[in-house]
Amino acid sequence: MGMKEKLAELRQQGLEAIEQSQDLDKINQARVKWLGKKGPLTQILRGMGKLSPEERPAVGKYANDVRNDLQEALQRRKQEMEKELLNAKLMAETVDVTLPGAPVAQGQPHVIQQIIDQLIDLFVGMGYEVATGPEVEEEVYNFEKLNLPKDHPARDMQDTFYITPQILMRTQTSPMQARMMEKHDFSKGPLKMISPGKVYRRDTDDATHSHQFHQLEGLVVGEHVTMADLRGTLQEVGRNLFGDQLNVRLRPSYFPFTEPSVEADVTCFNCLGKGCDICKGTGWIECLGAGMVHPNVLKMSGVDPEKYSGFAFGLGPDRFAMLKYGVTDIRDFYLNDMRFLTQFDEKG
Ligand code: PHE
Repeated sequence: MGMKEKLAELRQQGLEAIEQSQDLDKINQARVKWLGKKGPLTQILRGMGKLSPEERPAVGKYANDVRNDLQEALQRRKQEMEKELLNAKLMAETVDVTLPGAPVAQGQPHVIQQIIDQLIDLFVGMGYEVATGPEVEEEVYNFEKLNLPKDHPARDMQDTFYITPQILMRTQTSPMQARMMEKHDFSKGPLKMISPGKVYRRDTDDATHSHQFHQLEGLVVGEHVTMADLRGTLQEVGRNLFGDQLNVRLRPSYFPFTEPSVEADVTCFNCLGKGCDICKGTGWIECLGAGMVHPNVLKMSGVDPEKYSGFAFGLGPDRFAMLKYGVTDIRDFYLNDMRFLTQFDEKG
């Protein structure tokens, strides 16, 4: 067999072997086998010396062509193989975006916050602004400017945690009355505000008392504001929260910063008025203090009591939540027991 035939056969066999290589290893092996130092092509090229000078250029060129063909075939097969591998990998790693995700537990506002939010909705609808104030309050705002001078006996009922003799944990949201009146420009119209938040007292904790609880203060000051406006407003609150199920009654009372003063009670949800442990036998649950803003309080906040009058109320969202949902112990709201808290689903 002449050189050219040998080379042609070699090309034929080499191309076939390369074409049949099924993975990158096999392709590599084929390269070593057909083009490597010990491969047949190298052998043939080495034997070129034995050829006559006339034959040499043509055979040399042919051998080069065979080598190029084999190299090209290897290159092509390798690229094909890499593409196949990549496709297989992409297929294997496909993410099915239509699969349902792992469920994430959804939280909800605390039941007391739900009550506060409902009240905010109601009052904003009646044109009130919502203000929040400091829980660590100045004694002057918590007591003095509310007509409770030092040594006033009514301070006893609202003993609290003192940070310094002048700074305390507020016992009520009423300090916001003074803070808001001082800021308000009455020439531009009446002041109508509510202020929800936490308050603190040295109460002995029992089923209806907690050393920390919530209040929502309300204040309206303007020209010709009367007790009738207060009554109408409180009735609206009762209707909004309890519908017609429970009754609201007003009772004369005393607060140093309102005159006259009233307290509002709601029918006991537990005994519906018959008298039980929760309402201490009265059939009613107290949930709100209110009255006409005392002239001294107006004066101390720079408001002319001859020209302006107002009403104020402070209601207890904790008590409202108890009434609305029939919760028998106020302390349950603060224990952070999820079995208790998750029962009050806003959407439910
Ligand atoms: N601040 C009073 C309390 O905590 C409630 C109240 C507010 C009474 C506003 C009258 C007017 O008991």
